Amino acid sequence: MLPAQSLPVPDFLYGTAWKEDRTAELTELAIRTGFRGIDTANQRRHYYEAGVGEGLAAAYRTGIVKREDLFLQTKFTYQDGQDHRLPYDPAASLSTQVAQSMASSLEHMHTGHVDSFILHGPSARYNWTKDDAETWEAMVKECDAGRTRWLGVSNVALTHLEQMLDYHSDAPTFVQNRCYARLGWDRDVRELCRKRDIIYQGFSLLTANKEVLRHPFVAMLAEQHNATPAQIVFAFARSVGMLPLTGTSSEEHMRQDLGSRNLVLTGDAILKIESIAE
Ligand SMILES: NC(=O)c1ccc[n+]([C@@H]2O[C@H](COP(=O)([O-])OP(=O)(O)OC[C@H]3O[C@@H](n4cnc5c(N)ncnc54)[C@H](OP(=O)(O)O)[C@@H]3O)[C@@H](O)[C@H]2O)c1
Repeated sequence: MLPAQSLPVPDFLYGTAWKEDRTAELTELAIRTGFRGIDTANQRRHYYEAGVGEGLAAAYRTGIVKREDLFLQTKFTYQDGQDHRLPYDPAASLSTQVAQSMASSLEHMHTGHVDSFILHGPSARYNWTKDDAETWEAMVKECDAGRTRWLGVSNVALTHLEQMLDYHSDAPTFVQNRCYARLGWDRDVRELCRKRDIIYQGFSLLTANKEVLRHPFVAMLAEQHNATPAQIVFAFARSVGMLPLTGTSSEEHMRQDLGSRNLVLTGDAILKIESIAE
C-alpha cells in the first residue's frame, strides 16, 4: 500500500451533512467551485446520500469533472446513530450490514467504488469492541473486493485507535475527528496518526472553535494576510498536517475556504494558534 501522505487525496473535503433537499445543488456547486473531495455517509438522519449522487451526476453531465477526478468518501453507521431510514437489514449480522450499506452507497452515488469508506464511530465510548472488530473486518473485505480504495475510522479517542491498531493487521488510512482547539486540536490522536502514517481529517474546525475565531491574535493574523479568521483556521489546520473538511452552504465561503490553501503561516504563528485555547 502507498504511504498515506503520498496518496492522491485532495487537500480539502466538502462535507454534505445537514444539506437535506439542497444536497444535490450544493454538491454540484462545491465541485464547480473547485472541491474535488466529497464527504458523505449512508446515514439518512444527517446526510442525503442519494442527493450527493444527483449532484455528482449533474457535475458529470456538464463535463466539469469525471468520476476519476473525484475523491468520494462515505461511511458505515451503526443502528444507534441512525433513524428509521436504515440502509441495511437491522436483523442481519454486522458483516452483512456493512456489505448492504456499501451496496446502497454505490447505488446512491452511481459508482462502482468509493475512494474511502469510514466507520462512522466505534460502538463504545473508549474501547474497541468485538462488534467494532467484526465491522472493521467486513470493511476490509469491501476494500479487498475493490468497492473502496481506502478505509478509515471516525469519532475515535486515542484508546480506540491504539486498541484497533494493536488488534488488526489492516490499519486505517484515515481518521476523521471533530477537532477542538481546547483539546490541543486533538493533539494525541494527531500524533499517533503522524507516527502511523494515517491521514487526519478534521471537522467542526470553525463550529467547535468559536473562541479561536474571535481571538485577537487570529484577528491580527487575518488582517495581516488580508484574509478572514475562518481562512486562518483552515490554513493552520493544513499547516499542522490535517486534511480539513468544510460544510459551508455559501458559494463565497466555498471560495474563501479553498482560497485558504494559498495562505502561508509562520512557524511562530502556528505554535501560537496551537496553544491558543489551552
Ligand atoms: N464523522 C462525523 O461524525 C462528522 C460529524 C460532523 C461533520 N462531519 C463532516 O464534516 C463536514 C463539515 O462539518 P462541520 O461540523 O465542520 O461544520 P459545517 O457544516 O462545515 O459548518 C461550518 C460552519 O462554518 C461556516 N463557514 C464555513 N466556511 C466559512 C467561512 N469561510 N467563513 C465563515 N463561516 C464559514 C458555515 O456557514 P455557511 O454555511 O454560512 O458558510 C457553517 O455554519 C460535514 O458536512 C460532514 O461531512 C462528520
